[in-house]
Amino acid sequence: MKKILKILSIETSCDETAAAVIVNGTIKSNIIASQVKLHAKFGGVVPEVAAREHLMAIIPTIDLALKTAKTNLEDLDYIAVTQGPGLATSLMVGIDTAKALGAALDIPVIPINHLEAHIYANFVKPLTIARSVATKQSYDRSPRAFGARDGNIFPSLILIVSGGHTLLVQMRDHGQYHILGETVDDAAGEAFDKTAKMLGLGYPGGPALSKLAKSGNPTAFNFPRPMLNSANFEFSFSGLKTAVLYKIMEHETWNMKQKADIAASVQAAIVDVLIAKLEKAIQRYHPKTIMLGGGVAANELLRQRFKFQASRFKIHCSIPALEYCTDNAAMIGLAAYHRLIRKKPQTKNFSAQPNLSLK
Ligand code: KG4
Ligand code: ZN
Repeated sequence: MKKILKILSIETSCDETAAAVIVNGTIKSNIIASQVKLHAKFGGVVPEVAAREHLMAIIPTIDLALKTAKTNLEDLDYIAVTQGPGLATSLMVGIDTAKALGAALDIPVIPINHLEAHIYANFVKPLTIARSVATKQSYDRSPRAFGARDGNIFPSLILIVSGGHTLLVQMRDHGQYHILGETVDDAAGEAFDKTAKMLGLGYPGGPALSKLAKSGNPTAFNFPRPMLNSANFEFSFSGLKTAVLYKIMEHETWNMKQKADIAASVQAAIVDVLIAKLEKAIQRYHPKTIMLGGGVAANELLRQRFKFQASRFKIHCSIPALEYCTDNAAMIGLAAYHRLIRKKPQTKNFSAQPNLSLK
């Protein structure tokens, strides 16, 4: 009989305390205790506050994840936890909790790379792959997640866009990554967040800015598209941020319509750059599939234009459902599951790695 594989996964890399239960690659629960409201007062994540909140929320969050999945601690086979990248003091709360539970239950604890997990948000079951063709209908159709044993999806090209990272990655197989390019300064999410802050939209800025952008004109302001035509796959967003700052400083006050125009124009500039690099990488590397990941993958314009590229090049694409774009523990558990079914994972002594990269 096939062994049932039960994983409790924990994510505390930034400002969400999250726990999930994954059974044989299927998500049984996915609980997130968000600290967003708390950090909004400060206009951004305050590491000390985040760590304290994680400490208070971690046990109830795990408890609820287990209850929702109708699972007891004793039934677990593995614990998976985010090792990095992220805030050191936040990561430590998740890791220490995972290690304590692992020791008490005498089960292995698997360290997971948060960026790899954003990729595995594309492996949420059901397993159907959507085939995109360049027609209006398929352009509107949502792509679906990839499955555990879909051998045909590699090489895949992945765009990871979050609050701390912007990467174009070639995935040759499960666990095999080659970074084609990343940001040389700010991440795409940071560009959203910082512009939103300048416009007084609060924190987190990405969702607020994209909401306001809906009523704005994306061609109202011609903001720079940094490195759009550079020969490599690197990104840069700090110049854009400065350009927006200078524009905002031109007037003392901006009315809502003008703010919406700025929001729409900034969003268009960010998405243009991301999509241009993606397009160039598709032409150079001829991937079988493309996948999107990270919090900015929740952005509607980016999702639409990403799908459109898949249609144009007639390749399969996957975009996680909204709840799996921003930080969550289900993606941590899925990354662990896909490693477990292929090889024995490294579970030895490990510690938080705030700057962990994707290898
Ligand atoms: O992956 P994530 O939850 O955390 C990190 O690993 O950084 O990403 C958070 C980022 C933030 O910068 C947030 O503003 C951005 O994702 N974000 C969005 C949207 N939703 C979240 N950016 C643009 N449009 C959105 N709808
Ligand atoms: Zn993330």
